Amino acid sequence: MKVTIFGTGYVGLVTGACLAEVGHEVTCVDVDPRKIARLNDGVIPIYEPGLEPIVRENHAQGRLHFTTDAAEGVAFGELQFIAVGTPPDEDGSADLQYVRAVAATIAEHMDGPKIIIDKSTVPVGTGDQVRQVVADILAKRGVELDFDVVSNPEFLKEGAAVNDFMKPDRIIVGTSDPHSEAVMRELYAPFNRNHDRMVVMDLRSAELTKYAANAMLATKISFMNELANLAERLGADIENVRLGIGSDPRIGYHFIYPGCGYGGSCFPKDVQALVRIAHAVDHEPLLLDAVEAVNRRQKSRLFELLVEHYGGREQLAGKTFALWGLAFKPNTDDMREASSRVLMESLWDAGARVQAFDPEAMEETQRLYGQRDDLSLVGTRDAALKGADALIICTEWKAFRAPDFDLMRESLAEPTIFDGRNLYDPYRLAEEGWTYYGIGRGKSVRRID
Ligand SMILES: NC(=O)c1ccc[n+]([C@@H]2O[C@H](COP(=O)([O-])OP(=O)(O)OC[C@H]3O[C@@H](n4cnc5c(N)ncnc54)[C@H](O)[C@@H]3O)[C@@H](O)[C@H]2O)c1
Repeated sequence: MKVTIFGTGYVGLVTGACLAEVGHEVTCVDVDPRKIARLNDGVIPIYEPGLEPIVRENHAQGRLHFTTDAAEGVAFGELQFIAVGTPPDEDGSADLQYVRAVAATIAEHMDGPKIIIDKSTVPVGTGDQVRQVVADILAKRGVELDFDVVSNPEFLKEGAAVNDFMKPDRIIVGTSDPHSEAVMRELYAPFNRNHDRMVVMDLRSAELTKYAANAMLATKISFMNELANLAERLGADIENVRLGIGSDPRIGYHFIYPGCGYGGSCFPKDVQALVRIAHAVDHEPLLLDAVEAVNRRQKSRLFELLVEHYGGREQLAGKTFALWGLAFKPNTDDMREASSRVLMESLWDAGARVQAFDPEAMEETQRLYGQRDDLSLVGTRDAALKGADALIICTEWKAFRAPDFDLMRESLAEPTIFDGRNLYDPYRLAEEGWTYYGIGRGKSVRRID
């Protein structure tokens, strides 16, 4: 099938590459000429495991094209995907200007029937707006062409995006049109061989399903962070509690890790957008407000621990901290809404310096903060420790899980760790003379044997 994808970011590029990988012909359109030039030169603009070889291979085979020419893109595919960003507006609602711009572009250039598929995360009712934009422009052009608007939200996880797309838990399709449904079934048939993963529903329910999934996951994290803060005050260890509740299959072990807050391009903006969606229909979203508030507070937790440990914010001035992990989660270079940013900015405000290392997000950090002289970006995790007063961990990269504690002790001025991801065993570290702060790990507790 011939497919056009507008937006060549995390979602658009992965979608395009994976659809090409199973044999479809794909044209990816982006307004960013540098990105398109790099892709045409075989350079992948993001770090995403497994993406590079399939982009290169399918590009070389002629099944995956990259262009900035929107008219060429509209002419190419019978299916037109919208996979552009939907960042938060000033008030937190999703900014739909890019989605509308693509809808208008498609309407201006189309000269045959099209199925317009919205893959971006958009508020309920956006599909109807897209339909209206296209209808208005076609009417202005004085042409009558068949088109349909389908919702097909994306559930891939950054860091595992290719695998998630290739082996989806579910493929949500929102349409009430039998032809569009049949086309979507054909498009996704290669991903459905093992068993049918497609769930077809009305367009509005599909749009809400995406927000519901992200809000549920964010709720699990904020719930555990709330409990972690309680555990700390009560002298309990949240890691024991986590194991204790995870064993209940109704709760499960997934996604109940306490930490220094969730970030990334999706959870924060999608929870905020759902709050705005609720207000727009006169519903007060009590639970969602709390999820958001807990997360905002949690992103300051590491800094609070530092202030407590050093006996006041002013004591941080002139200190140097080693920071391991900058990306909002492991296996990505994405720094959007990362907890590390909140922490670094608080440290800089207090007059401290940061020596940071991340396995993938160094280039992105350089782009964001490279001009600062109170930030040193260093090439290895060990180099970050040299001469630092203490170590802080913001991202649970595998490479940080089993460090050489003896070597660390030699590099640091004091053997002190502020661990925002609970990577280490506080009991063992305490025995070895470390001062160790995790999230929600009360001091006078027993470990589960
Ligand atoms: N990143 C994720 O993990 C993820 C997962 C599921 C869903 N989503 C949703 O998917 C959407 C895209 O997210 P992303 O992370 O891929 O965004 P992104 O910012 O990485 O990429 C968006 C791309 O769209 C391009 N663009 C903007 N206007 C355009 C236009 N008029 N024509 C063509 N290209 C245009 C931008 O240049 C950019 O390259 C968002 O709604 C997001 O919420 C993201």
